[in-house]
Amino acid sequence: MQSLVETELAAIDAAAAAIRGRFPAFPRVAVVLGSGLGDVLKTGGASLPYSEIPHFPKPRVAGHHGVLEVGEVAVFRGRCHYYEGHPMEAVVRPVRAMARLGVETLIVTNAAGSVHAALRPGELMLIEDHINLLGANPLRGDNFDGLGPRFPDLSAAYDPGLRRAAAAAAREAKVRLRRGVYAAVGGPSYETPAEIRMLRRAGADAVGMSTVPEVIAARHAGVRVAAISCITNLAAGLSKEPLTHEEVLETTRRAAGGLDRLLRALIRRIG
Ligand code: HPA
Repeated sequence: MQSLVETELAAIDAAAAAIRGRFPAFPRVAVVLGSGLGDVLKTGGASLPYSEIPHFPKPRVAGHHGVLEVGEVAVFRGRCHYYEGHPMEAVVRPVRAMARLGVETLIVTNAAGSVHAALRPGELMLIEDHINLLGANPLRGDNFDGLGPRFPDLSAAYDPGLRRAAAAAAREAKVRLRRGVYAAVGGPSYETPAEIRMLRRAGADAVGMSTVPEVIAARHAGVRVAAISCITNLAAGLSKEPLTHEEVLETTRRAAGGLDRLLRALIRRIG
């Protein structure tokens, strides 16, 4: 009988092998595009739907294409979320497959709500640190010794060198880039106003339902991470309007041009 770790490693390797079969020279830099951001960073490269990659979870949420495009960098257009019901291993399987394919730098993007009114919808925020309130961790269970250590350090999860590069890229691209702490919550219901007040007191600047599992899995595997939130709305209680996924997607469309320029400038700097 295979252990759970062996079964999961086989799934990761099968996914990586299918990707390598299609893209023999896989880039060292990968980007994950979150809700509504799936049209950013067109590379002109060939693409492979996630549905053709064995064991890749398929996004089922509006605003996520579910396509891998490979040009100068690897662009994962759309992701799966824990709230969709996927187990954590499945949520982070694409990240582990990339690590297997030799990806050294991962740039993660997401849509997030602002926890204080000084951070406005339409702005971009460089994630400096996170608070994991998902109630789950992708590394729970037997450690994947072949991938990384039992107790990985997260004291600089968001790579300081990449953060400096992102700040310089933002100046070059003339994009305003705020900085802050991202709190990951389980969703899929949006937060209550009381929860948002708690998050603000806890030191969060933005709140969302993704990213943290991928960042933990990437750091476990030794992949450097940068992450950028597209602020799509004022979180619950900060505005009179009810929150909707449509508003989130609408604001990402507004911010997509700036994010595209920022990512291109950052990728040039990573080289
Ligand atoms: N809360 C949680 N996740 C989100 C939000 C929000 O306000 N906006 C976009 N993703």
